Amino acid sequence: MKKVFMVCLSLPLFILCSCGGGGGGGTSSTPTTTVSSNSSSVSTSSVASSSKASSSAFSWSSVPALKDLASFPIGMEVSAADQERSIFTFPSQLPTIEKHFNSLVAGVIMKMSFLHPNENEFFYADADRLHGYAVDHNMLLHGHTLIWHWDSQIPAWMKNYTGDWATMLDNHVAQICTHFAGKVSSWDVVNEALDENEPSGYRQSIFYQRIGKKYIENAFIAARKADPNAVLYYNEYNIELSQTKLNFMLAMLDDFKSRNIPVDGVGFQMHLDLFNPSIDQIKRSFKAVADRGYKIRISELDIPVNYNSTLVLTDTYAQQQKERYKSIVQAYLEVVPENQRTGITFWGLVDGESWYNYIGLPAKEWPLLFNDDYSPKPAFYGVAEALAGK
Ligand code: XIL
Repeated sequence: MKKVFMVCLSLPLFILCSCGGGGGGGTSSTPTTTVSSNSSSVSTSSVASSSKASSSAFSWSSVPALKDLASFPIGMEVSAADQERSIFTFPSQLPTIEKHFNSLVAGVIMKMSFLHPNENEFFYADADRLHGYAVDHNMLLHGHTLIWHWDSQIPAWMKNYTGDWATMLDNHVAQICTHFAGKVSSWDVVNEALDENEPSGYRQSIFYQRIGKKYIENAFIAARKADPNAVLYYNEYNIELSQTKLNFMLAMLDDFKSRNIPVDGVGFQMHLDLFNPSIDQIKRSFKAVADRGYKIRISELDIPVNYNSTLVLTDTYAQQQKERYKSIVQAYLEVVPENQRTGITFWGLVDGESWYNYIGLPAKEWPLLFNDDYSPKPAFYGVAEALAGK
């Protein structure tokens, strides 16, 4: 229950409504399918036929490689180590990953509790192996994430820590950034530190409670010192949806800039839905950040569609999703100056592995670019067309 609630914090509006228990987001909210959080796979048989077709207004001679269409990194979130869909144990996904993506981010294994399991113990072997894979395939590795409030990702020892928190957290950041210097090209230094429902704008995380808002700037300072070459991001969700949250973030960044706190860019997670926020609103939020000179990554893009708890990805949803993906990528290209575009990363490869299908939502979701058999969905062609300017 707690986990579902926490997950809801970063879900698109319509899912947030339905999983919060306060009225469904769709017209028919009868649950039809439940995907348990530990189910090992999600059936592909419920994909409507035309969503499997090569649906594009343009006749590509073959499936284009996304990375060849872009002048910035195209990223993929992957499982690694001994996770269920690890790239090291689930090889059928590799041709698709290697064809389309030139940047990787670990969905789980580079979070706090994995890299720093005990106060005096850091664990790098799994992440180093992922880095080796990235190097072998000419891919960048983006680090996610040094500080995040998510309860299960904060190591138990840290939650119980009774010493000097500021020193302890500085050491956490410094040790990890030192180890990965020259390996990761960029870091999400702090993830999701803001909460627009708090009068202060700051999430009441354990870090905020122990140190105050200074933990955020401390982390950037420690990261820059330990790895002067990594591009340092503040990563956040709903900054394109909530003007209040965007304003809190801009105020924080303006303050940082005036005091030379080393933030290089902003990661817009963009776990969006089909309709909200509007494309104009998305453009305005990109522009507000771009005008301040920051690099912008779309860091965790996915677009769930299942408003009505259908059992199949309907053609209507598939086409709406294609247009939504296309217009988001177009907005990024239109508003963010070329030298500030640092990439678009998708949060998962095939629909069946999306995190949305593992968090106890009432119905199955299809938020990603590929069907479970790795065939490209219309959504894929929406991204490809936008990148190719078609
Ligand atoms: C999610 C992963 O995809 C899941 O596998 C994990 O159980 C929980 O975290 N915002 C973030 C990501 O910054 O780290 C989250 O990733 C999704 C929401």
